[in-house]
Amino acid sequence: MTFENLHYPEAPKIIDKLPGKKARDILKKQYEIEGKAVSYPKAIPLVIGEGRGATIKDSDGNIFIDFFAGAGVVALGHCNPIIIKAVEEQQKKITHTLDFPTEIRIRLVEKIRGILPDKLRDKMRIQFGGPTGSDAVEMAIKFAKCMTQRRAFISFEGAYHGMTSGALSLTSGRFWKEQYLPLLSEIHFLPYAYCYRCPFQRIPDTCERICAQYYDYKLNDPHSGVTQPAGTIIEPVQGEGGSIIPPKGFIKQIQEISQNYDIPIIFDEIQSGFNRTGKFFSFEHDGAVPDIITMSKALGGGFPLSAIAYREEFDEKEKWVKGAHIGTFRGNVSAMAAGVATIDFMIDYNLSEHVKKLGTYMVQSLKDLERNSDIIGEVRGKGLMIGLEVVVNKETKQPSEELARQIRTEAFNRGVLVEIGGHYNNVVRLLPPLVITQDLAEKGIEILKTTIEMVQNTSNYV
Ligand SMILES: Cc1ncc(COP(=O)(O)O)c(C=O)c1O
Repeated sequence: MTFENLHYPEAPKIIDKLPGKKARDILKKQYEIEGKAVSYPKAIPLVIGEGRGATIKDSDGNIFIDFFAGAGVVALGHCNPIIIKAVEEQQKKITHTLDFPTEIRIRLVEKIRGILPDKLRDKMRIQFGGPTGSDAVEMAIKFAKCMTQRRAFISFEGAYHGMTSGALSLTSGRFWKEQYLPLLSEIHFLPYAYCYRCPFQRIPDTCERICAQYYDYKLNDPHSGVTQPAGTIIEPVQGEGGSIIPPKGFIKQIQEISQNYDIPIIFDEIQSGFNRTGKFFSFEHDGAVPDIITMSKALGGGFPLSAIAYREEFDEKEKWVKGAHIGTFRGNVSAMAAGVATIDFMIDYNLSEHVKKLGTYMVQSLKDLERNSDIIGEVRGKGLMIGLEVVVNKETKQPSEELARQIRTEAFNRGVLVEIGGHYNNVVRLLPPLVITQDLAEKGIEILKTTIEMVQNTSNYV
């Protein structure tokens, strides 16, 4: 199998004005009968028919290049035949098993333990959660509290850890939280190394990672207002916060400081894990060593699955007891079969090299925009986790959600799916399936460049 055969060869193909007739009817129906919190279709009027690789066909036969991959879930592309076969074979055997062991479950646990970096390989225990990333975060919160008998957590500005109450408490965006307070108490948000918008007004080359120093200071000063935390949670590359790639050394430094203060460090790899950045786990780029890892999205190969890994020494405390995190769907066996196939595929096809090569190509190609466009302040990326800062003024860096939204809409109209995120909802985010080809990536980027030029030229904001 080659990656070329995974996608609709004619992508992108837009037949007529979007959304088409069938799509309009279905969107209307959804709007009338589903709950008002439905979100994506209000931004992108897409009715999905089917998908192949890094391409999606809508209900009217329009075909899109998918630079979003279901928010990073379908790492191996839509309907990857190897994943589908693994799931079909499993579904003929059994579909629900609670947490009774099955051969495939144990194979997946062994695979996850086996892909951990050297210092941790085969030395972490795996605990499956409910089907979503948020539940992995809930479990990590409970686990860290249970191990330390403490209550406070440190999280970071720009963090996204999920929507359930505990996970939401660790998420920074005030829009999502304000109406639902109080959430967990004793949560402190410290600055992430967001160098494009440094809260300390420093320049990366000379700043000596002042944000990591500030973390140290907060833990050291008895009057900083932070009680000894149960854990510190951090995305080694921030996703929803705007594809923020911290400078080399930041994540390792945060880990070492945590270790100095005896605080378990939780790396949230739900979005950045499983080769999204060109390594199985994004903390590996910095040689950092976590105590707890949260994972989901690509873990289930497109099917819902989440887990944490924790250092096995924790079990010596004998506190994380039977039933500490129970539930009906603590690991879905079809998703586990997909997970095994995903990890095998990533190794067999040397996906990390493909991601590194293609990611470098995409970022370099998009850097044209940073140089030449009036509304792209920065292009950044690690592997296939890429962000474009949309601004109205490159000097002041004033963000523009409005222009980012227009880019998303106009890219859709031209057959490319992108999402937006970031502190000010002004970052165009690219998270294509990792099996996307150079050819499709090139086509998508060309369309995106034309779109951005058009938005710039027609906008009243610039
Ligand atoms: C880093 C990170 N953590 C947690 C979550 C929550 O995962 P879910 O949406 O599956 O609950 C997300 C989702 O985007 C994420 O990016």
